[in-house]
Amino acid sequence: MTGGVAAARAVDVWKSYGTGEAAVTALAGVSAEFERGRFTAIMGPSGSGKSTLMHCLAGLDAIDTGEVWIGDTRVDGLRDRGLTDLRRRHVGFIFQQFNLLPTLTAAENITLPMAIGGQKVDQTWFDAVVEAVGLRDRLGHRPTQLSGGQQQRVACARALVSRPDVVFADEPTGNLDSRSGAEVLGFLRRSVRDFGQTIVMVTHDPVAASCADRVVFLADGRIVRELHAPTADAVLETMKHLDGGERLVVA
Ligand SMILES: Nc1ncnc2c1ncn2[C@@H]1O[C@H](COP(=O)(O)OP(=O)(O)O)[C@@H](O)[C@H]1O
Ligand SMILES: [Mg+2]
Repeated sequence: MTGGVAAARAVDVWKSYGTGEAAVTALAGVSAEFERGRFTAIMGPSGSGKSTLMHCLAGLDAIDTGEVWIGDTRVDGLRDRGLTDLRRRHVGFIFQQFNLLPTLTAAENITLPMAIGGQKVDQTWFDAVVEAVGLRDRLGHRPTQLSGGQQQRVACARALVSRPDVVFADEPTGNLDSRSGAEVLGFLRRSVRDFGQTIVMVTHDPVAASCADRVVFLADGRIVRELHAPTADAVLETMKHLDGGERLVVA
């Protein structure tokens, strides 16, 4: 590889689930680089391997063959301690279902991963992140006292507060109404622009994808296309061709 080290990188990654007749190939030779300070969207039909790719990149799931890198750390082959450290310090993950702890306040949820890891929270950075997601006056609230959009903004703050090398977001707006979704996207976009954060986000929404710098399209566990500086129309058009074209290839 030339130039600076990518924030995240997959090299010919293969991953299957199950064995024998029931085996499913979720990733079939995926190679991709995610540059630092860039916002990448991942799209593709349901079952095309988007979540699997994110989990493998983040060290949440093991690969069969290939290589996964976060910065200059080789992720595949890391054992318990190394993986824990990677998840705590180097990657952030935002889930569709928010995954907040109901008994904790927003502030406690944001700092929980760092507290568990015995890491000190940088108060200035915490304040900047809380300000950016607009949660200043909600910090003492528990998840049930927050709207879906606010809960997802807590989850975004939690992912960012440890200053990870890369944040993975798996359909972060999938459970939100369009307005809350737009707020979360706006925040993700700003965290790239203002904080230099690297973000990789799975989405089904062409408008959400058009907030990214680049869109990578998966089909049947393979990267089949890429768009740079995407417009929602271009994304929509590409998806139509994928749906039509890929079936012929598969048949
Ligand atoms: N834990 C699992 N066990 C068995 N099969 C799985 C598992 N996770 C995903 N798969 C299969 O792998 C393929 C890719 O799944 P996934 O990565 O979740 O796709 P996507 O996120 O694009 O919808 C699908 O065929 C899915 O059924
Ligand atoms: Mg998925």
